Amino acid sequence: MTDTPDLTTTAAKIEDLRRRYREAVVDAETVAQTKQHAKGKLTARERIEMLLDHGSFTEVDEYVRHRTTAFGMEKSRPYGDSVVTGVGTIHGRTVAVYSQDFSTFGGSLGEVAGEKIIKVMELALRSGIPIIGVLDSGGARIQEGVVALGKYGEIFRLNTASSGVIPQISIIMGPAAGGAVYGPALTDFVIMVDKTSQMFVTGPDVIKTVTGEDVGMDELGGAHTHNTRSGVAHYLADDEEDAIDYARSLLAFLPDNNMSEVPDYESAFDFETTDSDRTLNTVIPDSPNQPYDMHGVIEHIVDDGDFLEVQPLFAPNILIGFGRVEGRSVGIIANQPSQMAGTLNIDAGEKAARFVRFCDAFSIPIVTLVDVPGYLPGTDQEWTGVIRRGAKLLYAYAEATVPLVTVILRKAYGGAYIVMGSKQLGADINLAWPTAEIAVMGGQGAVNILYRGELKRAEEAGEDVAAVRARLANEYTYNVTSPFLAAERGELDGIIEPAQTRVSIAKALRALRGKRASLPPKKHGNIPL
Ligand code: HXC
Repeated sequence: MTDTPDLTTTAAKIEDLRRRYREAVVDAETVAQTKQHAKGKLTARERIEMLLDHGSFTEVDEYVRHRTTAFGMEKSRPYGDSVVTGVGTIHGRTVAVYSQDFSTFGGSLGEVAGEKIIKVMELALRSGIPIIGVLDSGGARIQEGVVALGKYGEIFRLNTASSGVIPQISIIMGPAAGGAVYGPALTDFVIMVDKTSQMFVTGPDVIKTVTGEDVGMDELGGAHTHNTRSGVAHYLADDEEDAIDYARSLLAFLPDNNMSEVPDYESAFDFETTDSDRTLNTVIPDSPNQPYDMHGVIEHIVDDGDFLEVQPLFAPNILIGFGRVEGRSVGIIANQPSQMAGTLNIDAGEKAARFVRFCDAFSIPIVTLVDVPGYLPGTDQEWTGVIRRGAKLLYAYAEATVPLVTVILRKAYGGAYIVMGSKQLGADINLAWPTAEIAVMGGQGAVNILYRGELKRAEEAGEDVAAVRARLANEYTYNVTSPFLAAERGELDGIIEPAQTRVSIAKALRALRGKRASLPPKKHGNIPL
């Protein structure tokens, strides 16, 4: 028989609270540190401490304990169960957070761990604050069966309800297995830590049994795989600190919710053309086939050259990310001529489409920089659905009601011209550099089709065919692809010197700050998925 403590005085009750707090938090944390540090990982609370502004965390539900009796579980009922939840601030702005504790039941999600996560997600949705999940879990708690699965279902429904209302960020810092991966997949950004995080629906053992394939955990679902091949992740962090730094930086660009303004930072924006602006006048090579790095352009457009790239390792032929213009967040979408000549393919289309929709949902204006020779040709693309999947980017731009500013730097050919934020899809301000070429196709391709007979006659007459082709291509470029033709028709709002780009974009965004646009009422559209 245990002695009943004497709690008849206030002092004793306060002492009892302190004892329970020590057990629930302080002692549990010591055990967690021993287990997690041995694996080269931080504890759930250490991660929260690193993520949030120092000392800002208020934990909730630290006294929650599971109610399961199956498999002798009643003998072990640690306070807090397998997840730490609460609220705190990042850069002074309130966020909700949950962080799974792998040192308790492998971070697995049973009934009460699920309830804790759901409670903090509901709080975030109600209060219009971002939610950040730190995942390190063996998935559904095996001992709790369908109850655990049910909680996942509720979490997924809340993820979906929160989508487009509050920013949702997932930081994967350990395993995320089975259906549990779909929680992060439903959020806006997934950050993975190299070597220590894995995401997969079925693990290596099941794969070996069913398909006979031999694949290791990291190759199957490690951070590298999901950042480069699958496109599931948006950032490959070197370590946990890097992952948290990225999440904090990302949040600094995002509004709290879909009804609030984008963050507005003090900015010493210079409306005079600067030396940095003038370097853009030499970016475009004289040869149309010579690549250049679009990062170099973006860095001259955004404040302080600060561009936070999203998904840099996946579909690198298109760049997406956040920057600021005059201190206010913008989403940047840009073709990357140094990768696959900047062509659009399925991966690039899907990557950009999701980004357009994120920016649109959270009223972040979109700046599109265009240098695209067209869609990547090939059976692989056609057979894996470039029609259906490529249509997502069209849909996303066409549906977007945020300010859209597009600058055509060089090539803008065919369907790719239309999809990359063209006027006809709904962009507000469309500008071009004098180096822009806008047409159904490039000069060489067009000459081969339009002047087939003439080229043949030149060949038969013993003329220099290459010189004839070059002359015709030059004529075509001048007469058909010149941006002045588009400007004449009002399909471009202006042609600017590259050096004027930063200031022109800033002025355009100023003009569009009060933009109000709406779509016809509907339950929801049917984006080609
Ligand atoms: C209960 C679990 C658990 C789980 C791990 N543990 N996963 N307990 N339910 N799902 C416990 C272990 O028993 C162990 O307890 C402790 O956590 C640490 O686990 P280890 O295996 O020792 O750690 P490690 O070697 O690092 O391996 C981690 C792991 C492995 C790869 C995650 O534990 C594992 O394969 N777990 C099962 C993964 C899985 O299949 N989950 C179900 C997925 S399906 P002790 O007491 O020994 O310390 C799913 C459905 C979601 O999640 C559906 C949504 C719709």
